[in-house]
Amino acid sequence: MLVLLVAAALIAPLARAHLAPFHPGMYGFGGVTGSINYNTDDVVHPLYQLSKDQWWFHHYNNVDEFPPADGDFMELPAGGSFQVEIASNRGETSFSFKGKFATDWPDGKNYPDDYNVETCITSPNMHTQNQSRAAGTAFAISYTSDIKKVTPDNLAVFTVRYHTPWKRITNYDVPADMPACPEGGCICAWGWVPNGCGQPNMYHLPYRCKVTGAKSTTPVGTPKPPVWCENNPGACTKGPKQMIYWNQADGNNIQVDGYDAAGDRKSPAYNAKCGFPDGAQNDIFTGKASTSSPSGSPSSGSSSSGSSNSFTNSGSDSNKPVAAGRKKVVTPASSSNSSSPSPSASVEPPACKKRSARRADRRAIHEALAGHRRRSPHTL
Ligand SMILES: *[C@@H]1O[C@H](CO)[C@@H](O)[C@H](O)[C@H]1NC(C)=O
Ligand SMILES: *[C@@H]1O[C@H](CO)[C@@H](O)[C@H](O)[C@H]1NC(C)=O
Repeated sequence: MLVLLVAAALIAPLARAHLAPFHPGMYGFGGVTGSINYNTDDVVHPLYQLSKDQWWFHHYNNVDEFPPADGDFMELPAGGSFQVEIASNRGETSFSFKGKFATDWPDGKNYPDDYNVETCITSPNMHTQNQSRAAGTAFAISYTSDIKKVTPDNLAVFTVRYHTPWKRITNYDVPADMPACPEGGCICAWGWVPNGCGQPNMYHLPYRCKVTGAKSTTPVGTPKPPVWCENNPGACTKGPKQMIYWNQADGNNIQVDGYDAAGDRKSPAYNAKCGFPDGAQNDIFTGKASTSSPSGSPSSGSSSSGSSNSFTNSGSDSNKPVAAGRKKVVTPASSSNSSSPSPSASVEPPACKKRSARRADRRAIHEALAGHRRRSPHTL
């Protein structure tokens, strides 16, 4: 039996069932069928070698066509931070079933804080060996309310969290100088390019968002593609940067060759290797200041400290991942720059969690929930 499973994994290495930040402001929050699916994982599938019309905003399974409920926005407090729940399934967040199946981790299970698997953590599928190796993730913003008007040239990365994805509750910092959005809000996007540990894919998901407490009116400048600049800060793209578009059939905006300082195959990511500092990206406001005052979002003083949210959840440890992430610095291996890949790079990448296993997970959740459905607080 075990042999059969292993064989199946080798035959079908298709990457599935990964992670995404859930939030009521996200497209596809209720799935992609039209009725609300409290167990949806439609948004968590990675993007790999797809044409741009398919990967852009996860169009290949129509995520971009299922906007959040009217009035649901991801609120971005200028100078503060906002919170999302990174999970492999909405059923494992506080947004479904009153959080009954949510733990500190993205898959509703429990692991040690120093969770470390030399051959790569595959449960949950984080594409990393441990927290310090987690590649980093980002949110970008486009100052339009119309998702169809978003392009790489008006979608700029405004916040990065090093060493994520890791735990479920994840906070991102908002630059203090973020200007207000148009009346109908902005379009935001989440991105993640894992560093090894499986298929070298990427993530690109849309959200409806708006800046609150905006004081500045200087617009975000036109973003430029990031470049690989590990240990060479002078070469990094300065000012506003595009998201990383990599390993797709077309629409890529970065190319890398060879090995990084740690001896792994170069994998562009939202970290110092591509010139992204951790936290708020404060150098993006290079646009021409407009003469008119911003619409909506009047300045609300300096009340937004820490994680102010438009929703609440079981966030007693909400700042742990951030604190842990901040303490750590990307530390490239000091001396070994041999031209051969490290052992971790040369082993066969582990396949992502098998579809059948996922189905079993989902079945378990369904069964466990048979009696709780109707009492769900989520009546969108
Ligand atoms: C994380 O994983 C890498 C690669 O296996 C390893 O070199 C490093 O020591 C690990 N770090 C921790 C804190 O376990
Ligand atoms: C490391 O790289 C530098 C620059 O390419 C080279 O001069 C040096 O010999 C390399 N060191 C090792 C140990 O390979």
